[in-house]
Amino acid sequence: MADGPDRIPGARAVTSPLHRPEWEYVPGVPMEDLRRTDWEILERQRPVFYAENQADAVLRMFDTMREEPTFGYRVNNYQHCLQAATRAYLDRRDEEDIVVALLHDIGFVVVPSRHGAFAAELLGPYVSERNRWMLQRHQVFGDHHVKEFPRLFDPEGRERWRGHEFFDWGAEFAEKYDQGAIDPRFESAPLDLFVPMVRRLFSRRPRTIPTE
Ligand SMILES: [Fe+2]
Ligand SMILES: [Fe+2]
Repeated sequence: MADGPDRIPGARAVTSPLHRPEWEYVPGVPMEDLRRTDWEILERQRPVFYAENQADAVLRMFDTMREEPTFGYRVNNYQHCLQAATRAYLDRRDEEDIVVALLHDIGFVVVPSRHGAFAAELLGPYVSERNRWMLQRHQVFGDHHVKEFPRLFDPEGRERWRGHEFFDWGAEFAEKYDQGAIDPRFESAPLDLFVPMVRRLFSRRPRTIPTE
């Protein structure tokens, strides 16, 4: 291996602030040197950190898409998501379904080919199995609405789940909230309407998802 430089220009050491000033740091050592008492501190502070931070982190991530250009659709992914959530809201869906609609494509730009799995991983612990199942497969259900591009998309791909208890919800979500939500004339609610809903969803006690 070649010798590296002794010093990298701009490199600096950093200590980050605690989420709550009254909290304790654990020593800045490799994890293998942390003691039981250190792990007890972390396990005490960790759930509070997530309860108070996760929703904001998700909302910041969502907001990074606000001004993104598109590769051809008339509206960007941020607007698509707002349209989906607004449609769910106008249909008087319950709050969980509205947040699911808002965030179903949050990974569309960063993990394009597996963005359904991305959303299912993000939201799965906080939503019903019905919604986790739908999120994971929503790309395939969406393909049902692609009529003239069968080389890339299989409109009948969803048929493998025909008869499943959540099949109808997968089909309904794609039909009502996803495939049409690319309309530049559609008047979406502002994100502010959905922010408290996102906060309430992520303040639920997360459930453990069985590995598949
Ligand atoms: Fe999607
Ligand atoms: Fe979508």
